[in-house]
Amino acid sequence: MNAPQEKSPIIWDLPLRFFHWSMVAVVFTAAVTGYFFEEWWLDVHVYAGYALTCLLIFRLIWGFLGSYYSRFHTFPLSRNGVVTHLKNLLKGKSEQHAGHNPVGAWMIVGLLATLCLLVVSGFIVWGGQENKGPLASLIGYQFGEWGEEIHETLAGILMFAISIHLLGVLVETFIFKHPIVQAMITGRKEGVSATGKPVSIWHSLAGMLILIGVGAAFSYWITTKQQPPMAMSSNETYQQECGDCHPAYHPSLRSQNDWQQIMNNLSDHYGEDASLDATTYQEITAFLNSQNANTFDTEVAHKVGRHDTPNQRMTQTRYWQKKHDELTETDYSHPDIGSKVNCNACHKDADSGRFDDDQIKLPKGVHS
Ligand code: HEC
Ligand code: HEC
Repeated sequence: MNAPQEKSPIIWDLPLRFFHWSMVAVVFTAAVTGYFFEEWWLDVHVYAGYALTCLLIFRLIWGFLGSYYSRFHTFPLSRNGVVTHLKNLLKGKSEQHAGHNPVGAWMIVGLLATLCLLVVSGFIVWGGQENKGPLASLIGYQFGEWGEEIHETLAGILMFAISIHLLGVLVETFIFKHPIVQAMITGRKEGVSATGKPVSIWHSLAGMLILIGVGAAFSYWITTKQQPPMAMSSNETYQQECGDCHPAYHPSLRSQNDWQQIMNNLSDHYGEDASLDATTYQEITAFLNSQNANTFDTEVAHKVGRHDTPNQRMTQTRYWQKKHDELTETDYSHPDIGSKVNCNACHKDADSGRFDDDQIKLPKGVHS
């Protein structure tokens, strides 16, 4: 081993190291909330995605403006380099490179590309399925569902790529004794000769400012571009006449045919007489038809409202039962709930028809 040199060069500038370790934290958070947590944690997952977006935008900028080894054009991506490196690995050798080694460089390109696609598909799911975020008004539910398949596939690819990356780090560290983790912390690599201008503190400072600027601009954009209020008007008459015995269900919870059936049989409405006079009947029927499940593009309209079996109760749809399988009869008999059809007791936004995850608030004493 060489004696430690007087001054080993800074290879990884401060913004790049900050980027790297923030990325580790953010991707970890996104992966854990994405794979293991209930859907109500979706907000945390999405905030991680927002942070990831900023970090990636910064990295792309820094790939052109950063110090020598942060810039993409210095990545050793040539085929010869990769072949030589792989051959050496097979022979049990790995040369210490000042920046990335050729295989590592491709790894980084792959990781960054996967992460960019993950973020884009994430915005598609968020906008299409949940009607939230900057794409909410642009993307339909079906497109969001398709985006989810892609998002999940990419997440799998990312997990695989991260495993390979970590394996590479372990091999470099323990077999070839290159302290590359330490280099990503201190920025310095001992015993290599660096190319390019030495990293100046001003350059690093500028990088950190760019990162903060990206974060600020993105936060501003995302808060001014919140979800549009969906056109879910309410109707006084409907609320009054149909909200007595149970909440006045949002029209998007049933299909046009189902509403027709219900309105045709009001005199024998689940064992009750809910008959209306002709004018009221007209008004309510028109209201229900204007906003039924077939005209609405929310998750609940697709999954509960548009179910195939005519006249099936909302609570009998497979989707509903799957979403509520952790609740018991005892939970429903809680004084603040009374019945499972009292959606409003747990869904604070039931009247708007949104049924957002972050609007689920269980009354005290109900565990789930
Ligand atoms: C006199 C009381 C009463 C009135 C008024 C009433 N309902 Fe109902 N409704 C019921 C009962 C009881 C049920 C069955 C609820 C249950 O199973 O707990 C029901 C169920 C429903 C369901 C089915 C929910 C499901 O699980 O799929 C819909 C939809 C519905 N009512 C719509 C209406 C509409 C529209 C009106 C106004 C025209 C109305 N109701 C007025 C008593 C009423
Ligand atoms: C006792 C409380 C309670 C009642 C009553 C209730 N829900 Fe829920 N609902 C929940 C909980 C808790 C979840 C979250 C389940 C999860 O994410 O694991 C949920 C999830 C949902 C979801 C999925 C939301 C999403 O975006 O993933 C929909 C849709 C929904 N409920 C619709 C309804 C409808 C319609 C009714 C009335 C017929 C209803 N719920 C009644 C507690 C309730």
